[in-house]
Amino acid sequence: MKSIGVLCSGGDGPGFNPCIRAVVRTALGLDLRAVGIERGYEGLIECRMREMDARSVGGVLARGGTILGTARSEEFKTEKGRRRALRNLHREGVEGLVVIGGDGSFRGALKLHEMGFPTVGVPGTIDNDIPYTDMSIGVDTALNTVLENIDRIKDTASSHRRAFLIEIMGRDCGYLTLMGGIAGGTEMVLIPEVDTPLAAVSEQLEDAYIRGKAHCIIAVAEGYKPGTQAIVQYLQSQREELGFGVRVTVLGHVQRGGSPTAFDRLLATRLGCAAARELHKGGSGVMVGLQGNEIAVTPLEKVVNEKKTLDLELYEMAKVLER
Ligand code: ADP
Ligand code: F6P
Repeated sequence: MKSIGVLCSGGDGPGFNPCIRAVVRTALGLDLRAVGIERGYEGLIECRMREMDARSVGGVLARGGTILGTARSEEFKTEKGRRRALRNLHREGVEGLVVIGGDGSFRGALKLHEMGFPTVGVPGTIDNDIPYTDMSIGVDTALNTVLENIDRIKDTASSHRRAFLIEIMGRDCGYLTLMGGIAGGTEMVLIPEVDTPLAAVSEQLEDAYIRGKAHCIIAVAEGYKPGTQAIVQYLQSQREELGFGVRVTVLGHVQRGGSPTAFDRLLATRLGCAAARELHKGGSGVMVGLQGNEIAVTPLEKVVNEKKTLDLELYEMAKVLER
């Protein structure tokens, strides 16, 4: 193998740049050519590739986002789209690919591997919903952003004696919400993994008021059903009994930006380095992840066909502390 490519796909996260840097510099150290593909699988199909030297990844450790860009591509889900991508890779002399992304991106990576193209995945998503890795790149920074915002909202909530619903990202996974709730000391967490009826939310609010709390902060995962707006409507219909005035803050995409924490920079660097080495030694169709404090290599087939479960003992612990 003489040349490897690297791309980011799906939702970005802080730490993608340190990972690109590690892939590029490890490749160069192994006497491989490094090629950056812009805007994920879309860039593969449109042949948007650029040569990466050591200087091209200088100064990126502290930068959020991704210098290569990322995208979602419907065309890549088709056989025709993937064949175009492969033609471009061959034309540009790229012989292996590192894909930084989440579950969907790994499905794409697995398809490339099945078509005979060496591909290695690196878990990058703030949701922390990828199995076979304790953490994905971006999670720690996003969690710190969540925490900083919970702390800030608590300040104003206490001044006004208000309740706040803070909506936290996580399409199907309550990891950021649960961990943010524990570390931020919220009065309640609502996550997709646990059914919590709306009546329980208003009871918790009333109860916190009666116990003389200065605020009631409820961390709500984006994926909680029936959703933040349904909670607001329910609470409004009961306004007389609540005590607290209620406000809503949707944290949204602020959680996806910002300079990566030390943890994310180190994780991204270790995983990027491991991915390039894996390709160099002939590996393909695998994800490099972190298990314990060790780098673990897992077949993508297992990664995409299993679901990461949230540790519900931590949820029980959070409930004990919500008083
Ligand atoms: P994430 O990787 O963050 O989960 P998505 O689920 O949006 O993000 O997936 C990113 C991209 O991966 C998609 O836009 C598509 O190009 C590719 N992809 C997803 N699922 C498949 C699939 N089954 N086959 C081929 N490519 C896929
Ligand atoms: O998967 C990461 C994530 O940030 C989810 O938490 C969120 O639901 C989704 O991406 C948002 O995607 P988009 O950037 O397309 O709005």
